[in-house]
Amino acid sequence: MGFAGRVREATRSDHAAAQSMAYFDALLGGRLDRYGYAALTAQLFFVYETLEDAAAEMRADPVAGAFVFDELTRLPALVADLEHLIGADWPARVAASAATSEYRARLREVAFTWPAGFVAHHYTRYLGDLSGGQVIRRALDQAYGLAGAGTNFFEFPGVEPRAVKQRYRQLLDTVPWDAVEQERFLDEVSLAYRLNTAMLDDLGKVVA
Ligand code: HEM
Repeated sequence: MGFAGRVREATRSDHAAAQSMAYFDALLGGRLDRYGYAALTAQLFFVYETLEDAAAEMRADPVAGAFVFDELTRLPALVADLEHLIGADWPARVAASAATSEYRARLREVAFTWPAGFVAHHYTRYLGDLSGGQVIRRALDQAYGLAGAGTNFFEFPGVEPRAVKQRYRQLLDTVPWDAVEQERFLDEVSLAYRLNTAMLDDLGKVVA
């Protein structure tokens, strides 16, 4: 099994925990209103603001830079969604939750200076967006009749998710990290999942 396969196996239970958060149940079951959905979009805005700042910093890194795919950039889509879902005054009406602030603090701590740390956080978000994100988008369209408006975050125009994921896994399979660095990477992916799970837990309380 290549490294990409190992990453997936090693974090299978972390993924299961993230995926089974009550917030997703309510969201995908159509039990929230548009503000309940917008609450997720807002928290993701704060995450991607920092993550994509880190990407700009890491672009020049010989290893981490290869993972910076411009076509995956999510911040403009999140801004468009927030404008649609909340209105032009959205910046005054959203704030990072405690869990999201912790997530951002970890990103600032590792993703700007440690290439494998950046890739760990990048992988956890973007590969998820290209995978489960597609399932979520279809469910949202159905549950809330959004017809594509307000769900730009889940859309990657001109991108073939399967092809990008394949390329991404090839890159992971060829990273020049030694065994110690690979373990540190796996730990950071696991932490990234837990930070996402905590963010979703906070969201579950907000919309309960
Ligand atoms: C309702 C919520 C979710 C659903 C339905 C879902 C579903 C899926 C599915 C079906 C795959 C496999 C796709 C494939 O084999 O190509 C996948 C992969 C993935 N998901 Fe999720 N997911 C959810 C939540 C999350 C969350 C919250 C995260 C983390 C932020 C996440 C991160 C990932 C990652 C990183 C992968 C790629 C694993 C790999 O192949 O290396 N997912 N997801």
